[in-house]
Amino acid sequence: MEHVDETPVIELRHVDKHYGDLHVLRDINLKIARGEVLVVIGPSGSGKSTMCRTINRLETIDSGEVLIEGKPLPSEGRELAAMRAELGMVFQQFNLFAHKTILENVTMGPIEVLHMKREEAEARAMELLARVGVAEQANKLPAQLSGGQQQRVAIARSLAMNPKAMMFDEPTSALDPEMINEVLDVMVELARGGMTMVVVTHEMNFARRVSDRVVFMADGQIVEQGAPDEFFDHPKTKRAQDFLNSIKGH
Ligand SMILES: Nc1ncnc2c1ncn2[C@@H]1O[C@H](COP(=O)(O)OP(=O)(O)O)[C@@H](O)[C@H]1O
Ligand SMILES: [Mg+2]
Repeated sequence: MEHVDETPVIELRHVDKHYGDLHVLRDINLKIARGEVLVVIGPSGSGKSTMCRTINRLETIDSGEVLIEGKPLPSEGRELAAMRAELGMVFQQFNLFAHKTILENVTMGPIEVLHMKREEAEARAMELLARVGVAEQANKLPAQLSGGQQQRVAIARSLAMNPKAMMFDEPTSALDPEMINEVLDVMVELARGGMTMVVVTHEMNFARRVSDRVVFMADGQIVEQGAPDEFFDHPKTKRAQDFLNSIKGH
């Protein structure tokens, strides 16, 4: 029998956050299990990005706790940097280093943070670039690649750090429509490979097909959550029903 590890990879307990008067996260409680693919959806401004950013402390919180594999996130210093490196993050904007080649973009973290030998880092980078389908582009600069290719490089760069989980914040929102699927396909493969993933997305087909659970946020709260078919076919709250109706046909 397989060993069952019940400690969530990521856990938020009673997380609250304000931006001035704006109560942007309200008592967020969430556990993400190993290998789970969690999709977060909700209207613009509901706090999805802020929640993602609190998970690796790109944002501080007012109260509550964020735990990674059961351990509280340190608030600063080398320990925080080490833990941050364990969570991959892919944003809407690709954020590749413009003056470094694709290969250098992927090997930098492993060499500088993980102290991996250059040859080893390059071999691993080439493996990952092949996995996301851009190995032939290794010696080019980011600007020479399409948006879809750059986003796949950004995913490879995160994977090169051997993260415990990957977070995606609207990774396809800035892409031309014909490039969306090539990025989603990489994410589908990752999910199938057992990666623990938090994905903020408006791609409802992806959410339904790939996620284990959908979390619906509105006004800084988790309003509803459930298995994808249950959530999409039978949303329980009016907020979720209205949201799903508003995006139908898009
Ligand atoms: N750095 C910030 N300072 C002040 N308000 C912010 C900041 N970042 C986000 N907000 C506000 O917090 C709310 C939630 O934003 P965000 O987490 O980006 O929502 P979402 O990702 O769901 O669209 C919005 O009203 C947004 O304007
Ligand atoms: Mg956002």
